[in-house]
Amino acid sequence: MTYLDPAPLVSMATAYWNSATLIAAVKLGVFDVIAQGSRSLEEISQALNCDSIATDALLTALLALELLERQDSQYINAPLASTYLVSGQPQSLGGALLYNADVYPLWGQLAEVVQQGDSVKDPQAYLGGDQEKTKRFVYGMHHRALGVGRAVSAIIDLTDVQHLADIGGGPGTYSALLSQKYSQLKADVLDLPAVVGVAQEIMTQMGADEQVSCVPFDYYQDSLTLNKYDGALISGVLHREQPEQVKSMFASVAQALPIGAPLWISDVMLNDDRSGPLFGAMFALNMRVLAHDGRCHSVAEQSAWLQELGFEIVGTHHLPPPINYTLIHAKKVR
Ligand SMILES: C[S@@+](CC[C@H](N)C(=O)[O-])C[C@H]1O[C@@H](n2cnc3c(N)ncnc32)[C@H](O)[C@@H]1O
Repeated sequence: MTYLDPAPLVSMATAYWNSATLIAAVKLGVFDVIAQGSRSLEEISQALNCDSIATDALLTALLALELLERQDSQYINAPLASTYLVSGQPQSLGGALLYNADVYPLWGQLAEVVQQGDSVKDPQAYLGGDQEKTKRFVYGMHHRALGVGRAVSAIIDLTDVQHLADIGGGPGTYSALLSQKYSQLKADVLDLPAVVGVAQEIMTQMGADEQVSCVPFDYYQDSLTLNKYDGALISGVLHREQPEQVKSMFASVAQALPIGAPLWISDVMLNDDRSGPLFGAMFALNMRVLAHDGRCHSVAEQSAWLQELGFEIVGTHHLPPPINYTLIHAKKVR
């Protein structure tokens, strides 16, 4: 019998150790404490108010993950940690990682989710049901969008658009970045009431109030105002929805936009044969854990739905990891 190396299985079975270590360190504020200056084990465990033997084990794991470095018993943040894991830094991913911390325990119940076919948590908690969680979710999206948003907004061409409908616009980050790129542009961030409340705060922080308005909108119930918009963006929204809902959103956009108007869709998408890629497949599973109707769609599926509704596909763009977004540029032609 030929030997089949089981190492990939061992790696898969223990991969969550790395996630848990990173999440615990961010939650405890390890990188924030060390950012103030190099620290010894005793100083760190005291500042964190943690058990020193367990802190030693955590710091050792962080050394091995190359998030910390140690010189003469003093710990310092490694470049990846000092750039992305210290609170308040321009490129901080802290908000997004804290959101991961919320989601992390839910993955432990994946078998139950698959058995029941539904998320184990009420997804509404993040969409207004729980104020703190909603705020964390919206800021998490904002930090993620700031991280990847420039690459995405660099591709989106709104040269001829005066008024953009940013459907499920969340924190408004993309609308704000696009309004910096296009001075003629006005954008409406259309999202659930509790989410636009936080988005308004973020628009003020980004100095985008003049061009970007935050408008309460429920895409299950509300229709886009006719003759108001001449372009639309649906970013990171369709992975929450099953095909029938996606088609109904496309129909509502088709009805509201004039001929010639662009529709940009940006999301994690699956290959046309729906066999991967790995990140997309895992992301789709994450959405299943989190949201009632979570699913990732392929470019081929969405293109067919759009073409049926009178859109032409102008082009697609694939952004490589760590962004992992695909953009579909469609134009209403009939
Ligand atoms: C992953 S976020 C994407 C946010 C933003 N477009 C971006 O790309 O950063 C999905 C958004 O869909 C919004 N959403 C979910 N259900 C909605 C509904 N029924 N009506 C309007 N927005 C909804 C959520 O509040 C959330 O802001």
